[in-house]
Amino acid sequence: MKFENSLVVIKSNNQKYLAVLKEGGEFVTDNGKIEYNQITNLPSIIKSSTGDDFKIYSPSYKEFVLLMKRGPQIIYPKDVGQIIIEGNIVNDSKVLEMGTGSGALTLYLILILGDKGKLISLDVDDKNQYRAKKTIERYLSTFNNEFKYNLKLINSDLVNFKYSDIDEKVDVIITDLPEPWKFFDFNKIEHEITWVSYLPSITQVEKLTRRLHDNYFENIEVKEILERSWIVKDKIIRPMNEMVGHTGFIVSGRLIS
Ligand SMILES: C[S@@+](CC[C@H](N)C(=O)[O-])C[C@H]1O[C@@H](n2cnc3c(N)ncnc32)[C@H](O)[C@@H]1O
Repeated sequence: MKFENSLVVIKSNNQKYLAVLKEGGEFVTDNGKIEYNQITNLPSIIKSSTGDDFKIYSPSYKEFVLLMKRGPQIIYPKDVGQIIIEGNIVNDSKVLEMGTGSGALTLYLILILGDKGKLISLDVDDKNQYRAKKTIERYLSTFNNEFKYNLKLINSDLVNFKYSDIDEKVDVIITDLPEPWKFFDFNKIEHEITWVSYLPSITQVEKLTRRLHDNYFENIEVKEILERSWIVKDKIIRPMNEMVGHTGFIVSGRLIS
């Protein structure tokens, strides 16, 4: 089969699904069934067994992370965007991520950093890191050419982690774990660095901002990203009825030494 093992979005009239194409495989939905052998091009349109049109194409980052199977809760794309800005991350940045989790943020960082930058990602749970690595490899396999990147996974609890053990200074620390302030119990940073934390609860925000202040961080900002989608269809032009109310706070600061 021409597209054996390809990761695709299967889009019906009202639903999107993620699938990996296999010789002789099929995909069954409420709008009928398609057989993978019908797919001879990507992107393409295939008629299902009930006559509905299905579009088949490679997923964008956003589609992939929202549709993929995951372990721990991911950082939503709207927050990933803001974290990249607050972290001032560019393609040669050196980034330390704490809380690999399902790898949703890790994947986007890799897409930005490629092999020019460097990403170190820490998590206490090696199963999460194993799954995250598979997720990253799965998405990168949709590219025609091999995508090169510098990722080092560290399997450790934050409280046992010594920042001084990392070979080189990083430009940014990003955290998505419950008690990021514990980093400062055992570590002291003495060079310029940007800190960005994603935290679901305001009590966590309070604890972290206090510790950032105590550790001489400046330009401390706390924000939430609210995203409201609109329907634009014929004469109906209005905000959608449903909206994600709260995901997390983004706390950022900079040590200017
Ligand atoms: C919510 S998930 C991170 C999700 C990730 N940012 C994403 O977008 O997919 C939090 C992760 O932090 C890890 N974690 C929690 N406490 C930790 C600690 N003290 N040290 C290291 N990792 C920790 C958990 O194992 C979990 O994988």
